[in-house]
Amino acid sequence: MDLKGRNFLTLLDFTPEEIEYLVDLAAELKDKKKKGIPVDIHKGKSIALIFEKTSTRTRCSFEIAAYDLGMHATYLDPSSSQIGKKESIADTARVLGRMFDGIEYRGYGQEKVEALAKYSGVPVWNGLTNEFHPTQLLADMLTIKEHFGRIKGIRFVYMGDARYNMGNSIMIACAKMGMHFTACTSKKYYPDPELVKKCEEFCKESGGSITFTEDVTEGTKDADVIYTDVWVSMGEAPEVWEERINDLLPYRVTSEVMKNAGEGAVFMHCLPAFHDLNTGVGKEIKAKFGLNEMEVTDEVFESSQSVVFDEAENRMHTIKAVMYATMK
Ligand code: CP
Ligand code: NVA
Repeated sequence: MDLKGRNFLTLLDFTPEEIEYLVDLAAELKDKKKKGIPVDIHKGKSIALIFEKTSTRTRCSFEIAAYDLGMHATYLDPSSSQIGKKESIADTARVLGRMFDGIEYRGYGQEKVEALAKYSGVPVWNGLTNEFHPTQLLADMLTIKEHFGRIKGIRFVYMGDARYNMGNSIMIACAKMGMHFTACTSKKYYPDPELVKKCEEFCKESGGSITFTEDVTEGTKDADVIYTDVWVSMGEAPEVWEERINDLLPYRVTSEVMKNAGEGAVFMHCLPAFHDLNTGVGKEIKAKFGLNEMEVTDEVFESSQSVVFDEAENRMHTIKAVMYATMK
């Protein structure tokens, strides 16, 4: 499998075989890391990490993975570069492309990461846009494969805002890889019909399926994976909280949901999660709306069915696989 020179902007651009290859490569790199076997095949190269939104997992994963591959990483934070304010993405891309061997971008519209890819001349990796979060899905699929021994045929239920980066990316991954995707949420939060149509085409090839339902009991019955994400994403106005809480509270992941799912079901979340009052936002929401937990109860988050920290660890191994495979 030769992915050298390829960008990693959305899973839409990759075949099921390429996706499975990246997941398996990540498993191999994870095993090597545990055994202390070096994988520094990109020694002497440098990458730029552009973050227009904040991050813990994605930033740390790119930095550690770069180090393990023998590379130097330069981090550009949301406020300390010229990007967007004094310099366009196209100009930034041409500057960074002269200095770096690869560029990660986290920020707003997908068109920005596409412009970076168009103008930089080096591989560009999407570290999250409003529309997609493809490196997260590689980590999630590695976690699923480790847990269930397979990806194909998994019954994957997503609860919450299915129109945003996580809902979109999960639906694409399911459709490409032959999983059965259910968006169990209010109709208002169903994904873009155009994207659904595309994914239905992928399902014809993969044997996967796509279902939408507002009924929690029906939607989560016998699921293998129950997945959720924050109700309000980075970059959204704080005013939307009230509406989101009203709309999405019935779709919170509770122990009743987990009991209704399949016997060996796992709980997944890309993180960060609001499952208690130990965060600034958690406390604000408690003061305003009286909620102690949001998209998932603390009981489920802390239960033995929760694999959220496996997913978090796997971010690093899968991001390493992406850079390993795509850099020239
Ligand atoms: N899941 C994820 O992307 O986490 P960060 O926002 O911490 O990078
Ligand atoms: N939907 C979330 C994902 C965070 C990893 C956000 O965009 O903030």
